[in-house]
Amino acid sequence: MQNFLKIADGLNVLPLQLALVRQPELFGRRSARKDGYADSPHLAMSDIWVRYNHPDNLAKGMEAFNSEHDSVWYPEAAYIPEVRPIVMHLMALVGGERLGGVLITKIPPGGTIAPHVDRGWHAEYYEKFYVPIQNDPGAVFGFEDGVIEGRPGEAYWFYNGRPHWVENNSARDRIAMIVCIRTHKEN
Ligand SMILES: [Fe+2]
Repeated sequence: MQNFLKIADGLNVLPLQLALVRQPELFGRRSARKDGYADSPHLAMSDIWVRYNHPDNLAKGMEAFNSEHDSVWYPEAAYIPEVRPIVMHLMALVGGERLGGVLITKIPPGGTIAPHVDRGWHAEYYEKFYVPIQNDPGAVFGFEDGVIEGRPGEAYWFYNGRPHWVENNSARDRIAMIVCIRTHKEN
């Protein structure tokens, strides 16, 4: 099975790249993705949760937090309004019917995310789209059937139910946006 496919080129992500470089304090504010998971493959990166289950629902525990829910925009979204036109463009492009989580990740030079599979309701219900925001040669998103060496402006569909990993063998941070969209399916 094919695990990824380029679906767009020519997106203008540079205003978002600038907004993120100018506001590094937005990264790493919410650490729930790492807390309690000492062996998490995601330890090497820092995140901005732009949209997901309402943060008040964290009080119900991680299992409930990650079970079925409607996503909402987080307060961080107001600092990076550049996200929305990219996300809405993707929604139109793929015929999205429900918008789930939006996550921006940053991995420093030399950083890696070990091969893993994403599980749980959110990971399995939504389709995943990868938008490289800052990605120099040497920063790769790997799958069993090949690697994406993304260029800003591109967007990819990918399947996170199969092993995938990241290696940043470039001299700058690798910044990526993951957009989770439910698309129409007949079955
Ligand atoms: Fe993943």
